Amino acid sequence: MAFQVRPPWLLLLHFIAVIFILPAMASLPAPPSPPATVFDDNYVVAYGGDGYHMINQGTEIRLTMDRSSGAGFRSKLAYGSGFFHMRIKVPAGYTAGVVTAYYVASEPERDVQDEVDFEFLGDTDGNPTTLQTNVFVNGHGDREQRLRLWFDPAADFHDYAILWNPSHLVMFVDGTPVRVLKNLTSRGPEYEFPAKPMRA
Ligand SMILES: *[C@@H]1O[C@H](CO)[C@@H](O)[C@H](O)[C@H]1NC(C)=O
Repeated sequence: MAFQVRPPWLLLLHFIAVIFILPAMASLPAPPSPPATVFDDNYVVAYGGDGYHMINQGTEIRLTMDRSSGAGFRSKLAYGSGFFHMRIKVPAGYTAGVVTAYYVASEPERDVQDEVDFEFLGDTDGNPTTLQTNVFVNGHGDREQRLRLWFDPAADFHDYAILWNPSHLVMFVDGTPVRVLKNLTSRGPEYEFPAKPMRA
């Protein structure tokens, strides 16, 4: 008659285990992958969406550039904070004068835009692409920082992310923070921090 004295919480525990363990086991042996974000759900073409300069493959976008055009896209929504994450492989070979940019920016307004940039500065053949980051607040920039990456960003895909919350702005390369800006605006007007809603 042991089951009669079983405390009710034991039943609850068993229930939770089934709910959470069984779906996890059902997906073995392949590790569960995050739901795929399809381009058209969240992004729209900004320019060059002619199927040649921008090729939309659902969860991956290819951008090409020639003498007539490059291509760009942006998120449909503007965000007041967030973790913006993209896997990028930049063009290889002779890319001097070509800038591949991944950034979040507020609505284009003369002189008062907020913006956080990853800019990949192309170079002549054999010279590695340089990563430049920049932060604009109210149109004030002049905060460029250049970083020689510890890998060739044209050889493979790597993770580039921007974390922007009320206390920090952090830029990551493959999970390593490469730039941090603290929100110190309460200390005085000389401390600037992006505050306007931004689109990726
Ligand atoms: C920055 O911090 C101040 C308080 O110190 C806060 O009022 C403001 O909303 C913060 N900025 C952002 C963008 O969250």
